[in-house]
Amino acid sequence: MTDREVKAAEGPLLESKLREERRFEPPADFRERAWVKDRTPWEEAERDFEGFWAKHAEAEVHWFKTWDRVLEWNPPWAKWFVGGETNASYNCVDRHALGSRRTKTAILWEGEPGDRRALTYEDLHREVQKFANVLKGLGVRKGDRVAIYMGMVPELVIAMLAAARIGATHTVVFGGFSSQALRDRIQDAQAKVLITQDGAWRRGQVVPLKQWADEALAEAPSVEKVVVLRRVGDAAGAAMVPGRDVWWHEAMAGAAADCPAEPLDSEHPLFILYTSGTTGKPKGVLHTTGGYLVGTTLTAKWVFDLKDDDVYFCAADIGWITGHSYIVYGPLSNGATVVIYEGAPDWPDKDRIWAIVEKYRATIFYTSPTFLRTAMRWGPEYPKRHDLSSLRLLGTVGEPINPEAWMWYHEHIGGGRCPIVDTWWQTETGMILIAPLPGVQTTKPGSATVPLPGIKADVVDEAGNPVPPNVGGYLVIERPWPAMFRTLWGDPDRYVKAYWSQYPGRYLTGDGARKDEDGYFWITGRVDDVVNVAGHRLSNIELESTLVAHPAVAEAAVIGRSDPIKGQALSAFVVLRAGVEPSDALKEELRQWVGEKIGPIAKPSDVFFAADLPKTRSAKIMRRLLRDIAEGRALGDTTTLTDPAVVEELRQRYIAEG
Ligand code: WTA
Repeated sequence: MTDREVKAAEGPLLESKLREERRFEPPADFRERAWVKDRTPWEEAERDFEGFWAKHAEAEVHWFKTWDRVLEWNPPWAKWFVGGETNASYNCVDRHALGSRRTKTAILWEGEPGDRRALTYEDLHREVQKFANVLKGLGVRKGDRVAIYMGMVPELVIAMLAAARIGATHTVVFGGFSSQALRDRIQDAQAKVLITQDGAWRRGQVVPLKQWADEALAEAPSVEKVVVLRRVGDAAGAAMVPGRDVWWHEAMAGAAADCPAEPLDSEHPLFILYTSGTTGKPKGVLHTTGGYLVGTTLTAKWVFDLKDDDVYFCAADIGWITGHSYIVYGPLSNGATVVIYEGAPDWPDKDRIWAIVEKYRATIFYTSPTFLRTAMRWGPEYPKRHDLSSLRLLGTVGEPINPEAWMWYHEHIGGGRCPIVDTWWQTETGMILIAPLPGVQTTKPGSATVPLPGIKADVVDEAGNPVPPNVGGYLVIERPWPAMFRTLWGDPDRYVKAYWSQYPGRYLTGDGARKDEDGYFWITGRVDDVVNVAGHRLSNIELESTLVAHPAVAEAAVIGRSDPIKGQALSAFVVLRAGVEPSDALKEELRQWVGEKIGPIAKPSDVFFAADLPKTRSAKIMRRLLRDIAEGRALGDTTTLTDPAVVEELRQRYIAEG
């Protein structure tokens, strides 16, 4: 078996292997008030797939011009709402500010040090227009790329919506990424302008974003202008480069108030978001305007049952797709009130998130299984300190949730009364594809349940045939959906090869799954060379290349071994160059090295020095055997190895070193 086949055949997380028997029905009062109460939308979508999307596109999104055709599908190339014209910024801001939600709060923001701001839709409208004029003044035109490297501040949302307003394509780079990661992304996107901030607060410390941005810009000549938000002040020690850098507040002071949203073609590029793939080079996932907006608006409304009086709090970072789709575009397009928190969940104490829920009376809360497992370990006394009775719905995303974490969430956060939506999706899918609609679906802890209306998914074997119930296989999506990515920026061949070649016409997700006898999906995790650490996607090969770039390293293999908190933790197996002495100091140096090159999230949990790595006769490192070793299992099939003794010796030494 190949690595992939082995992973696809594996069952879901340990506990659910015992077959999860618990069932949770939507509470009657929840169902009564929910947007979707029965299976009608599924039936409608099956009767008339395009008609279904057309109906909701018309109802949920404002169009300057309606489309001529709902879908043009030349696999794997999709165009949605062809000929239509719309604008994401108009949908998220103007239609509320100019309508009945003018004085409604759009953003409730809390800084890590405890400072607070509230922006109404009217405020957002004013700020977004002014900043759009700032961008224009800096020479940004429709189609140009604008890079954004910021922390969780309202100006990040303003910058995204301002770019979208004038048809500039934004690429947000997570503020926890290193200067090199930023440089690579700016270079790939050929961004013209960078928006950043002097520094960001994290656990009471200053993250020097401007300084890192300067390092990146030394090798990213496409950037002509830099806008710098003053967030932490003198503590950041940010130096401005004359002629290139402008302060946000100074630029805004001189900006004109009016900037109408530009009607944009439905397929106009809205943003590029980089994510890890199976090679070392990050993939620039491209999302376009109309379909993305329809998909995120409708799913935010249905999956989170979003109503006008809700206070919606998603604890993800806007630098990831979850923040793009379900902090910014989906909720704001619905005119929701969104809570945004700047800092660490354990600062100043481990109850910070629950304190925020209480303070703003959040009704909907969305987070990752890793955070929940961490909170479980911290203990229920932290949520107990707070009144969480405002909550009515909970969500998770990013990794499989084990039934025990699901139950903890249900009990200690949801007070036993809130439905939980376990939402499966990806950067590429743009919108949630598999999740319960909370007023309809019976949930089973650990299962993302069934595909949403209009979505068709399946679990297939290597040859593409559906597997029987409860047998593991590859998760595929059977037909296009509006918020699907359209290509990989600058690399259409990779788009075709990585996602659409294995099973032509069907989208290969890269995840393993099984379907149970009720048709519920149980996602088991990545089956390709991608590791999911605490909900963050990392590429094995990118990690390995980074290690090999260190002067002490000859060869490296990095694997994700199962971890009770993070889902997966990184173990690096490193072969040192001749003459280099192994030491604990060197292990630490290598961890730091990866942290600096990619970002702190990529630091391996442990580094193990090996004399040799197990390889196939075609010189491919067999990572699955290293996983067997790291997880303390008996070794799988070793017959294809050049030298089976290598791996046995490695295992003995690994055990000996504990
Ligand atoms: C994993 C995050 C199990 C999966 C939105 C997917 C999940 C990858 C779930 C995408 C879930 C996401 N259950 N696994 N509910 N949601 N995943 O691109 O492996 O950062 O392929 O998008 O996260 O990660 P990405």
